[in-house]
Amino acid sequence: MGISQKFIDTAWQALEASVIRYNERPVGTLAARDSTAHALNYDQCFTRDFAVSAFAFLMKGEVEIVRTFLTKTLKLQSLNKHLDCFKPGQGLMPASFKVEQKDGQEYISADFGENAIARVASVDSGFWWLLILRVYVKATGDMALARKPDFQNCIKLILDLSLTSRFDMYPTMLVADGSYMIDRRMGVYGYPLDIQALFYIALLAAKELLVADDEYVTVVDERLGHLVYHLRYYYWLDFNLLNEIYRYNVEEYGPTAVNKFNIYPGSIPEWLKEWLPEKGGYFVGNLGPGRMDFRFFAQGNLMAIISKLASEEQSQGIMDLITSRWHSLIGRMPIKLCYPAIEGRDWELITGCDLKNTPWSYHNAGNWPFLLWVLVAAAQKTGRVEIGEKALETALTRLHKDQWPEYYDGKYGRLIGKEARKWQTWTIAGVLVAHELIQNPKHLDLISFTEESAMVSCSLPIPL
Ligand code: GLC
Repeated sequence: MGISQKFIDTAWQALEASVIRYNERPVGTLAARDSTAHALNYDQCFTRDFAVSAFAFLMKGEVEIVRTFLTKTLKLQSLNKHLDCFKPGQGLMPASFKVEQKDGQEYISADFGENAIARVASVDSGFWWLLILRVYVKATGDMALARKPDFQNCIKLILDLSLTSRFDMYPTMLVADGSYMIDRRMGVYGYPLDIQALFYIALLAAKELLVADDEYVTVVDERLGHLVYHLRYYYWLDFNLLNEIYRYNVEEYGPTAVNKFNIYPGSIPEWLKEWLPEKGGYFVGNLGPGRMDFRFFAQGNLMAIISKLASEEQSQGIMDLITSRWHSLIGRMPIKLCYPAIEGRDWELITGCDLKNTPWSYHNAGNWPFLLWVLVAAAQKTGRVEIGEKALETALTRLHKDQWPEYYDGKYGRLIGKEARKWQTWTIAGVLVAHELIQNPKHLDLISFTEESAMVSCSLPIPL
């Protein structure tokens, strides 16, 4: 494939230029290096953004930055045991951090969301942290780091925080709107797929990293089994299932109910009836009482493939959907964060008239090139390598010339995002990881899982 080595070399230089140092040692990467825009918090190292940088560095054999990141952020984890609602809860990992100077000394200041726009706390940081640790261990063989008592403790605190019983009785995790990559109101409250897939991956990572006979392993195993069943069975949508929902009975009570979540057929959006192909399918964006969010969310679907949360048939189905709806999901820049946009009165009510999230922009169905890493990985995992190659080629015709924007706007991702930062680090790292995967497909083992890693009993009935 004709990827210009010059672009790749420039991307590596740009990634190196984004490195943050702490006492002269590399410790993370800035979110963006755009001198023409207000920095806001883009001059910080975000845990989720750094995950993509970490994968790139590890694939290239640069381990020090990742190790330092892990050891320093471990110390930032909240240990607040008291019920002080103004402090981050015990086990929470920071959304971002910054290296600052005081009296000639450097120190690291963490943000758990208390300073973030709209004060959002991130539920995904701990999950990304666990995945970074897993990839680091796989790449270096340094299991000794993960087995250190402070690391084991950190893993368990993340598990305590995410596995604790709350007011609901689902295996999925209940989260607030805007508490992860989509860090603004977008109607993703409840049980968003993106978080459930990441939660699943975090549990797989924790299982590998904990000492084998640790009592937490049993709990993790049990949740993995419930999650895989719940997601494969209730979130999956294809044309036949759509037809079933279209003819659903409602108000069913008791254990024999078919329509367990009381989804009214009238809630099926018009766009879906034409858009959903007869071949292929996807996991819907969210599921809760009386609510199925039919939007397609790329990160959750692609991560379901690389983690094997999706069955083989479902994984192939997602790639079939991407192929047959290439124009709407990939268009001129891979890949839509979600599809389609929410518009009109829905946009007003759901986003709170958020002008950054206007229809077909930013989180509201903008195109995000950082997702290339997981798109290429999912393509490889399903043996559909050409999909990843074609997506990367599409991206490389523009990204370098456009100075690596954060996101693109428009139905087909033709315009550089209205408020997109240039020199966005995870755009750069996303391309580098995608490129490294294509050059050396063995790297896929670092970031993906096998069905055996979960040892999940798949004898449970699945609707395929
Ligand atoms: C935006 C994105 C968020 C990302 C951050 C830094 O806030 O919504 O997901 O982590 O920018 O790039």
